[in-house]
Amino acid sequence: MTTNAQAALIDSLNGLLADTFALYIKTKNFHWHVRGRQFHDLHLLFDTQATEIFALTDLIAERVRKQGGTTLTSPSAIAAKTQIKAQDDTGLDAMAMVKELAEDNDTYIAKIREVKAAAEEFGDNATSGIADDWTDQAEQRAWFLREILA
Ligand SMILES: [Fe+2]
Repeated sequence: MTTNAQAALIDSLNGLLADTFALYIKTKNFHWHVRGRQFHDLHLLFDTQATEIFALTDLIAERVRKQGGTTLTSPSAIAAKTQIKAQDDTGLDAMAMVKELAEDNDTYIAKIREVKAAAEEFGDNATSGIADDWTDQAEQRAWFLREILA
């Protein structure tokens, strides 16, 4: 049986999973489309970050299943749940890409904080603990991106 606190946790994790897929594809999109004097560094940085983000998807989805919930099934399910805005301008300036990803990672960090609060409300210490690792990774991504903009 699912309690309200458990349902809230599952919903929050599924929102984070949608944001993870959306941030992954945006970071990869910028890896593919970045141009300009810093092409080489940014092309590699975006790929490193995308790989790190993608690795989170399975961990998050399986936290949902371990709580007895069902998780995302399709691109449309991701689109319906994510708060990360699409960026379809393939000609976007390189520094605008960096700025947008820094802001998206901040949004992502706030979402992890929401998941952690829901996990603690329900008493899911495993999700609460692993969320700290997810936060540290996202803060590192945001830091690397912000230093480029300095
Ligand atoms: Fe590549």
